[in-house]
Amino acid sequence: MDKFLIRGGNPLKGTVSISGAKNSALPCMAAALLTPETVILHNLPYARDIITQRRLLEDLGATVLTPELRTHKINASHVEVFEAPYELVKTMRASVLALGPLLARFGKAKVSLPGGCAIGTRPIDLHLAGFEKLGAEIRLEAGNVVARAPQSGRLIGTEIRFEKVTVTGTENLIMAASLAKGKTILHNAAREPEVIDLCELLNRMGARVRGAGTETIEIEGVQALGGAEHTIIPDRIETGTFIVAAAITGGELEIKDCRPEHLQSVIDKLTEVGVEIEEVNSSTLAARKRKPLRSCELNTAPYPEFPTDMQAQYMALMTQSEGRSVIAETVFENRFMHASELQRMGARITLDGHHAMVDGPTPLAGAPVLASDLRASASLVLAGLVADGESIIHRVYHIDRGYERIEAKLRAVGADIERLRESVTGTLEQVPGDVAVA
Ligand code: UD1
Repeated sequence: MDKFLIRGGNPLKGTVSISGAKNSALPCMAAALLTPETVILHNLPYARDIITQRRLLEDLGATVLTPELRTHKINASHVEVFEAPYELVKTMRASVLALGPLLARFGKAKVSLPGGCAIGTRPIDLHLAGFEKLGAEIRLEAGNVVARAPQSGRLIGTEIRFEKVTVTGTENLIMAASLAKGKTILHNAAREPEVIDLCELLNRMGARVRGAGTETIEIEGVQALGGAEHTIIPDRIETGTFIVAAAITGGELEIKDCRPEHLQSVIDKLTEVGVEIEEVNSSTLAARKRKPLRSCELNTAPYPEFPTDMQAQYMALMTQSEGRSVIAETVFENRFMHASELQRMGARITLDGHHAMVDGPTPLAGAPVLASDLRASASLVLAGLVADGESIIHRVYHIDRGYERIEAKLRAVGADIERLRESVTGTLEQVPGDVAVA
């Protein structure tokens, strides 16, 4: 298993380019299952989850060509299998995104029920309730969800109100409804930029989706969808992570190929704590720290509020800010696993249910720490960059799931970070960043 060795203390300086959004790429790849024609996706991040999703598509019978590293040509004209097995779902929950497209196009699908995961139980009951409202029959069999369309073979448009905002739930139902008979209206839908990106792709494929980006989405079902070409939006969470990296190290980064309007709440909050963020142009931000940072309260909530996927990185920053910050995690239960690892580096954090109190500033000291999930590992890397001495981050496969070559990007702007891999003889060897997820 790979580890990162970080020697903290270097202020980051230079330019970093943002990759495509993993959370947009995953549903867009699943959407290719909706058509027998070819879907071409550009700007996919070179991250582990994308490779997993590609494997799922191939296991189902689709062909995936990669004329370039970040471009996939997906053709699902021959789908022979209708199942996302446990082995895949357990490593990547987003494989449940195959359910909507398979059910809509082939009238049947089987997906292993995701179990508990590091950041809470994360059920898919809202996806399933929505499919049932579209006329599907849902059964649970030996840990699998088995879904079947009504006898006609086609789902039937309806009105669905989500009890709670769910990002992949919204995406799954939009995809399912795009081939249903008649109109579907989704209320309390997720408004994330990734949902809008998926809908743009679907509309290019011939779907009739309106209202993406608002809480009411209308989908007029069509008989069939066709091929399309689409470029994935930049990753707003990676962008936010690099803004924090500039601030926490007292450095200055130019962050290009991003979409500042997708992370307004993050920019607002980080500006409030004292990070200087300048919108250089519509795809470039400059971030720097010129004065001491101050602590600020934070609540995570669905878009357009502050994303839960930036909470761990924000917590790392608050360890270096003056005063007490109270962080309320309202989206996921149990998403403070990074807190105890940050404490091991010297952070002063108290947990109380879904609140974390962070007192700063505290000098951090390098330590061996364990990454528990994707964004938690990002916060440990950030802490390692400012800590005194050496930190070893174990289980960086979590970070490889969603960040494209983070250590190579950080090294290019001055961080002292290496990827180490245990050899067969048990010694640790350095691994170049560009082969990290190959
Ligand atoms: C997506 C993102 C993830 C992000 C999260 C919240 C992808 C691939 N992943 O995950 O990075 O952290 O949104 O912004 O896009 N819930 C239910 N029942 C359901 C579905 C969800 O109770 O059927 C709950 C969850 O447990 C959670 C909340 O709703 O408490 C939001 O989850 P959801 O938006 O569905 O997260 P994901 O789509 O899994």
